[in-house]
Amino acid sequence: MSQTLQAVRGMNDVLPDEAEIWETFEELVRDWLQRYGYRPLRTPVVEPTALFSRAIGEVTDIVEKEMYSFADALNGEKLTLRPEGTASCVRAAIQHKLVEGAGPQRLWYQGPMFRHERPQRGRYRQFHQIGVEALGFAGPDIDAEHIIMTAALWDDLGLEDVRLELNSLGAGEERAQHRAALVTYLEAHQDKLDEDSQRRLHANPLRILDSKNPALQDIVEAAPKLADYLGAESRAHFDGVQVLLKDAGIPYRINHRLVRGLDYYNRTVFEWVTDRLGAQGTVCGGGRYDGLVEQLGGKSLPAAGFAMGVERLLALWRESVGEMAPGELEIYVVHQGAAAQRLAFQVAEALRRDSLSVVVHCGGGSFKAQMKKADGSGALLALVIGEDEAAANEVGIKPLRLEGAQQQRVSLAALAETIENILYNDDDNDEGAGHGGV
Ligand code: HAM
Repeated sequence: MSQTLQAVRGMNDVLPDEAEIWETFEELVRDWLQRYGYRPLRTPVVEPTALFSRAIGEVTDIVEKEMYSFADALNGEKLTLRPEGTASCVRAAIQHKLVEGAGPQRLWYQGPMFRHERPQRGRYRQFHQIGVEALGFAGPDIDAEHIIMTAALWDDLGLEDVRLELNSLGAGEERAQHRAALVTYLEAHQDKLDEDSQRRLHANPLRILDSKNPALQDIVEAAPKLADYLGAESRAHFDGVQVLLKDAGIPYRINHRLVRGLDYYNRTVFEWVTDRLGAQGTVCGGGRYDGLVEQLGGKSLPAAGFAMGVERLLALWRESVGEMAPGELEIYVVHQGAAAQRLAFQVAEALRRDSLSVVVHCGGGSFKAQMKKADGSGALLALVIGEDEAAANEVGIKPLRLEGAQQQRVSLAALAETIENILYNDDDNDEGAGHGGV
């Protein structure tokens, strides 16, 4: 017997019970984005490798060790499965001259991202993000808008225990001054740095501040803080964000060590974090990236955005609101005999046109066996069509889950309205019969 094949490690199937919850979540998210005026953008899953190494930074975990990269078998072109969405979004905006044509853009995207990380709870090799990017906005207002809108989504979802961490990475020059001071400081402690940090000491010292190694915490804690190097404009920008957050009543903690794992950020960066999900507690992260558009070949253009991890958010949603009901099927049609089957198909199509969800039993079997399936389907009503009903152009209605609703047999003409009354208007149960039709 051949071995059964399994999904790739760290890449998950989302089975129907779970996928229905994803869909409910995605609907909510779509509504929420529309309320804030964001428009959808869809970009390819595969991009030139250079896009990510240039955007995210050569000396980052993502580019150094987590990208799924390969050479196109036909022309050798170096390609990568996208590890994030910002680079693609900026590439598309430059390529299609979105901002030049139509002015500043509020965009969003969703879809799978790929990072070759060590899989664990909340960390996968294929995971899903919903991301938001605002291109062409320079002020602190859009940074605040992003944080305020995420807080509103957590509220809509009833999420508990998510807290906001905030920092400013300043401007290039300020970071350069801070970096020089940081390197001098870290060089003085070089013998105590771990291998990763030694390697990053000159290439990307800021990332050492983000180290999770407990042995480095004292050194990191006492390191020069970027906040002490911010100039007046960066400070004013950061203050501007905080005023709007305070007005919105959103509590936050300034975390001087929050630097994010991608190199394109400047000024405001933020993360929403929870303790409810174990080690992988960051459900959303983002910030400003004023240099990225130019760095990728576009005109200089300020921008900011964020992305949330769908798997992590849904895990937290489940934690916060408890059991979730699977999607509800309204009608299951059982039938026996050739004429009954044909009628069942016609009736079901007509009811679907009335926006009802209807499953027609397939595969035959006794009425008893079919009714068992109807019950197991979770449907609210069964429609029963036997040879008698088919001959009389009638349908039996058997409520499966509705308190007080009566079993009855109705004409085709009365079916749609009777069902509607049973499902949505119990009081008028009998009045509808005789009107309308399928
Ligand atoms: P990021 O922090 O790398 O930022 O990812 C954003 C979110 O994606 C994380 O907060 C986390 O919830 C989720 N995530 C990341 N890696 C994994 C994984 N391996 N498994 C499960 N979930 C994961 C970005 O990607 C930026 N592009 C965000 C951004 C948009 N900044 C500006 N605009």
